[in-house]
Amino acid sequence: MDNKIFRFGTVLIMTVTAFTSCRDKREPGRVYMPDMAYSRAYETYAQNNLKQDGINYINYPVDGTIRRGDLFPYTLPNDSNGYKMAAEVKDPLPALDSNQMLEAQRLFNINCAICHGANMDAQGPLATSGKVGGIANLKLDQYVKEPEGQMFHVVTYGRNNMGSYASQLSRKQRWMVIQYIKSEQAKASANKNTAPAAKDSSSTAKK
Ligand code: HEC
Repeated sequence: MDNKIFRFGTVLIMTVTAFTSCRDKREPGRVYMPDMAYSRAYETYAQNNLKQDGINYINYPVDGTIRRGDLFPYTLPNDSNGYKMAAEVKDPLPALDSNQMLEAQRLFNINCAICHGANMDAQGPLATSGKVGGIANLKLDQYVKEPEGQMFHVVTYGRNNMGSYASQLSRKQRWMVIQYIKSEQAKASANKNTAPAAKDSSSTAKK
């Protein structure tokens, strides 16, 4: 074969390959073992061409319906009005028993303590390192007095530097975490009110 044609051909093939190969990283390209490329299980975010198979599967409940055992959807809008109205929203859960409270504490420590700190005093690693500013110290009076519904609103939608937890925590889990916060706040204020005078360093400090 003529050398020029051969070189031209090689360059052409390489160019065509370069332009056609990496279109979509999630597309396996030519599939010769479909069972390996496509999971047979209906994975949540997998593309299964199910519509084509006549099954219309999405992982959300049909609009206007509630999953069995699920809490009623939260419908207040994500704006300043919604935030104000949230003050009237009441925790729909019964009081947690000690095991559920442990679970609520676990959820708080996983999701919230990184900023708010395990003691809720805004001393989490992201606060002390200065990576996230303006973290609320939940032991402060203004948050001790904050209505539970408003807390739920913030955990659902986020607020300034705090993100939404609606996708990480179910409605029930969000309310559980708030019950945990409220119970810790109550413990802290009870301690403050009954703290013995000797604990106050001013009484023992050298004057
Ligand atoms: C990335 C850090 C971060 C994480 C994680 C975080 N928060 Fe916050 N949180 C903030 C900041 C910052 C604020 C102050 C928001 C503002 O500007 O009012 C705040 C405020 C709050 C408030 C006060 C809301 C109000 O009305 O002012 C509550 C309650 C709260 N967070 C609960 C939680 C709970 C519960 C979690 C876990 C599910 C959580 N936070 C996770 C950063 C965080």
